[in-house]
Amino acid sequence: MYDQKAVIVTGAGGNLGSAVVRELAGAGVKLVCMNRSSQELETLAGELPASTEFLSIAGTDLTDYASCVAAVARSVKRFGGVGALVNTVGGFQMGPVGPEAPAQWDTMMTANARTALTISAAVLPTMKAAGYGRIVHVAAAPGLKAGANQAAYAASKAAVIRLTEALAAECRDDRITANCILPGTINTPENRAAMRNAKTDAWVSPQSIARLIAFLISPASGVVTGAAIPATGRE
Ligand SMILES: NC(=O)c1ccc[n+]([C@@H]2O[C@H](COP(=O)([O-])OP(=O)(O)OC[C@H]3O[C@@H](n4cnc5c(N)ncnc54)[C@H](OP(=O)(O)O)[C@@H]3O)[C@@H](O)[C@H]2O)c1
Repeated sequence: MYDQKAVIVTGAGGNLGSAVVRELAGAGVKLVCMNRSSQELETLAGELPASTEFLSIAGTDLTDYASCVAAVARSVKRFGGVGALVNTVGGFQMGPVGPEAPAQWDTMMTANARTALTISAAVLPTMKAAGYGRIVHVAAAPGLKAGANQAAYAASKAAVIRLTEALAAECRDDRITANCILPGTINTPENRAAMRNAKTDAWVSPQSIARLIAFLISPASGVVTGAAIPATGRE
């Protein structure tokens, strides 16, 4: 089902990233698991089927281009190329347009937009050389329309959507697709702790988003590019 080259998953130790790794490992995909913390990678590695071919790369800072280039080079050396990038790295802060807003703006733009741009730029050369690639970023609904207290987060996720569109347009003739998904509230420990009275059964599971991502990085998805896909439905 998948290209024989490796799939890079960034934020592999996070809620969505680890679900993507488990989903793809179950499908026999060769994986590069990138994460800042090595401890989360060790835990994740222990959960994968023994037959999984994977490379763990700890300490990659996705805001840093040289760090991303070095990590991609290690991936290419190990697996001969990178067929897909699944970038789950991101962050979340809320607040009004007030005294804290300028710092919050920089934090969100760095955590959500710069990271997506930087890892995309690092992975494109090997995909272009192969004439094939799949890129999936994770945006969010406020990237289409912001609500109160969402200026920085919404703008940063809007930047991810615009980046995805530019990538899709630039890379169409290289047979590289770029799409982003807009998950609803994901059923994570952090969200359950932050919203104790919420009806979590209406939230989206990391596993269901991982299955959508698995389709988007498959060869069968080649006609889908430049899309911002809501992932908000009920399972
Ligand atoms: N959770 C939701 O309800 C929800 C809804 C819509 C969209 N999203 C988006 O979905 C994605 C995944 O969310 P999640 O809940 O799985 O988040 P998560 O568990 O917090 O995982 C995010 C990962 O990004 C990593 N990261 C942050 N900045 C980084 C950097 N500069 N370099 C390398 N790694 C970095 C974090 O590493 P550290 O642990 O080292 O910080 C963490 O592993 C994010 O883009 C988020 O904005 C989430």
